Amino acid sequence: MILVLDYGSQYNQLITRRIREFGVYSELHSHRLTIDEIKEMNPKGIILSGGPHSVYDDNSFKINPEIFDLDIPVLGICYGMQLITHHFGGTVERSNEREYGKADIDIKEGADLFTSTPHNQTVWMSHSDKVVSAPADFNIEATNPSTPIAAMHHKEKPIYGVQFHPEVRNTIYGNDILKNFVFGVSGCEGDWTMANFVEQEIETIREQVGDKKVLCALSGGVDSSVVAALIHKAIGDQLTCIFVDHGLLRKDEGDMVMETFRDGFDMNIIRIDAKQRFLDKLKGVSDPEEKRKIIGNEFIYVFDDEADRLKEMDFLAQGTLYTDIVESGTETAQTIKSHHNVGGLPEDMQFELIEPLSTLFKDEVRELGLELGVPEGVVWRQPFPGPGLGIRVLGEISEEKLEIVRESDAILRDEIKLAGLDRDIWQYFTVLPDIRSVGVMGDARTYDYTIGIRAVTSIDGMTSDWARIPWDVLEKISTRMVNEVDQINRVVYDVTSKPPATIEWE
Ligand code: XMP
Repeated sequence: MILVLDYGSQYNQLITRRIREFGVYSELHSHRLTIDEIKEMNPKGIILSGGPHSVYDDNSFKINPEIFDLDIPVLGICYGMQLITHHFGGTVERSNEREYGKADIDIKEGADLFTSTPHNQTVWMSHSDKVVSAPADFNIEATNPSTPIAAMHHKEKPIYGVQFHPEVRNTIYGNDILKNFVFGVSGCEGDWTMANFVEQEIETIREQVGDKKVLCALSGGVDSSVVAALIHKAIGDQLTCIFVDHGLLRKDEGDMVMETFRDGFDMNIIRIDAKQRFLDKLKGVSDPEEKRKIIGNEFIYVFDDEADRLKEMDFLAQGTLYTDIVESGTETAQTIKSHHNVGGLPEDMQFELIEPLSTLFKDEVRELGLELGVPEGVVWRQPFPGPGLGIRVLGEISEEKLEIVRESDAILRDEIKLAGLDRDIWQYFTVLPDIRSVGVMGDARTYDYTIGIRAVTSIDGMTSDWARIPWDVLEKISTRMVNEVDQINRVVYDVTSKPPATIEWE
């Protein structure tokens, strides 16, 4: 097992998932773990993640120096490297300017971490402070004109530091560097699989639930479907699924969910028509964060009401992923958006939560779904946010606007599938900005809405690029939307990556 200590970087769980991809179990934990707790976990290697602080800040996250005496290999990434430097007597230079982006580094001959990688390679930098003089006990292993100490290694102990981020895909040999640490330095074996995860989680769920009852919020999306399948496998009929039709779903989605799960999975499933309830609450609200919170709260209130009917429900299962948690802000990471299934929970809710996917990324959830026998059609369904079309009608929501998004989205999905692009594009949908523009149809002037098409490629939703949909496919989509959807006279294509944009527009 490789233990990753969390110092607050947005990328920290990426480190653990990269390592799990190598077939080595890895967990992310608070940097506040005690030495005894670390010893109990018996990790073969410890990684100190990056983070937003400066080692000189009074309230910065600290390291317990006893970690360096455990005789366990340590790799410090970015802030982690600065902590090592600070402890061993090197110098970290404060800076308010951020070095952000690709950088070419030169590697010293024979550097352990860089075994089997080229002498000169591209890495991803994202830091303000940097190490300007390595501690006396350390050798410099990689350099770059603006970051002269890009990597370092203790002369006698297996303690390493890198200023760049090997866990980010833009670091071309990042996986090799992490593998060199995990296998070469720490001596891990690489025999962990998703089947082990299923076994482990089933055991945890059975232990947590005992003979009590679990309510699962099933949306039909990948996450909640996989969570339902996992919990169903663990506790069978002790699970009841509730499918809330909040009226913010895609075209025909509600019926499909019922067919798949009631008929296909033989699960206890109840469908609730809560459309009006959600629309009433959202009336007059245009702020995206407020909409998210309202939708999240309303979900839980609906469940609360049902649970009154269902009486003995004790737990609420949610398909919360790691990305949802990190972007909603953790103890260490800063808030970007409050994803509804985390930030929107009302304080007076009555359930205990079960969130067995909270350490996983989207593609890992798909792999888990296949392992559990969830049909491919569900596993490969594109991600759909909990607040649904509520965050794709920008600003205030109305039934009329929802219909425009629903219809245009159905056309987009149709054409993307026909063009055979549905597996290549990670997520594709339409958004309705609150703008109208002038057009001409037949001989008449129109003054109608603009539809935005968003289509992105991504591995895990943390970063994304806009999909290069062929022009002729875009042309067909645009023509159909303008012809078939009322009140649309213009179609635009979003060509921004994440960052700096997010995938959804709200
Ligand atoms: P963003 O827009 O943050 O989206 O780049 C990343 C991924 O998360 C989905 N998303 C959400 N999922 N509740 C969810 O369950 C939300 O509030 C939410 N907001 C965004 C988004 O569709 C994309 O897949």
